[in-house]
Amino acid sequence: MVRFGRNWLNILFVLISVTDLVFCRTLSGDRDPCGSTNPRKFQKLRSDQITVLINGYSESRIPLLQSIVASYSASSIVSSILVLWGNPTTPGQVLDQLYHNLTQYSPGSASISLIQQSSSSLNSRFLPRPSIDTRAVLICDDDVEIDRKSLEFAFSVWKSNPDRLLGTFVRSHGFDLQGKEWIYTVHPHKYSIVLTKFMMMKQDYLFEYSCNGGVEMEEMRNIVDQMRNCEDILMNFVAADKLRAGPIMVGAERVRDWGDARNEEEEEVEERVRDVGLSSRRVEHRKRRGKCIREFHRVMGKMPLIYSYGKVVNSVGEQGLCRKAGKLVFCDQD
Ligand SMILES: *[C@@H]1O[C@H](CO)[C@@H](O)[C@H](O)[C@H]1NC(C)=O
Repeated sequence: MVRFGRNWLNILFVLISVTDLVFCRTLSGDRDPCGSTNPRKFQKLRSDQITVLINGYSESRIPLLQSIVASYSASSIVSSILVLWGNPTTPGQVLDQLYHNLTQYSPGSASISLIQQSSSSLNSRFLPRPSIDTRAVLICDDDVEIDRKSLEFAFSVWKSNPDRLLGTFVRSHGFDLQGKEWIYTVHPHKYSIVLTKFMMMKQDYLFEYSCNGGVEMEEMRNIVDQMRNCEDILMNFVAADKLRAGPIMVGAERVRDWGDARNEEEEEVEERVRDVGLSSRRVEHRKRRGKCIREFHRVMGKMPLIYSYGKVVNSVGEQGLCRKAGKLVFCDQD
């Protein structure tokens, strides 16, 4: 009898789990993102709208996630929002409720999906999911909220620079002459890395990152898994290597940044003298990120990251112009 009861419980449990999965996942056909239908023909993808991919992990940040999704869904340029939930320990009921809340309280016409990630790999945020039907994607974290006007401005900048990586939060690689090694840092006037707090790009790079590049890319994706970090840096390597151009920094009017533990680091725009003045945690973070840069460099056998200068801001006179070596030039000219 006892045995029978246990079996029933197991079956019930499986049934509940499956139901949860179906309820949360409004998407189907995402089985093989690298399959033969990919990469999709650029021309067939929508160019007037964008797909937003938000990583969610922390239950304590659900209210913020809710607010970000509501804000982005209110924009007519957003075709759909995919919330990629990466925390496997979050109870099914919480996700059900979250899904209900996200769809209930988001005003716009954008379709909203909540996808429980089957793997905790940070690489899965860049999977070229077949449901992404726009040329442009916005990758973001659940800790940063950027106002709708700035989102739309960034999209307009992307439209005239569709091959570039665009972002609002930037960092740099650098070469430490004393240690004779590549490092992760912040430079006052130049940058080569955009963070996934807000990263816009063509969806082809998702395919490049996840499916192309053979054993080399596989080894670098494995480094991301081992380090549990640096998927954003690797995406910058991929795009810069493909394009032979650095990213573009776009300004945002209003940014609410709650700070991810992972990103808890230098928010200062001005470089402090080396690591002096940084908390030990930030120093540790920088070191880990520096290690990633060195590892990617080792695997690729070269340094593809390229510096960009200046930032594109949404105001008359400065739009589309970047400051470089003290002169204003079109941002494309670098
Ligand atoms: C959903 O919304 C309700 C009502 O605002 C709130 O009490 C609850 O905490 C929310 N839950 C999730 C998981 O978003």
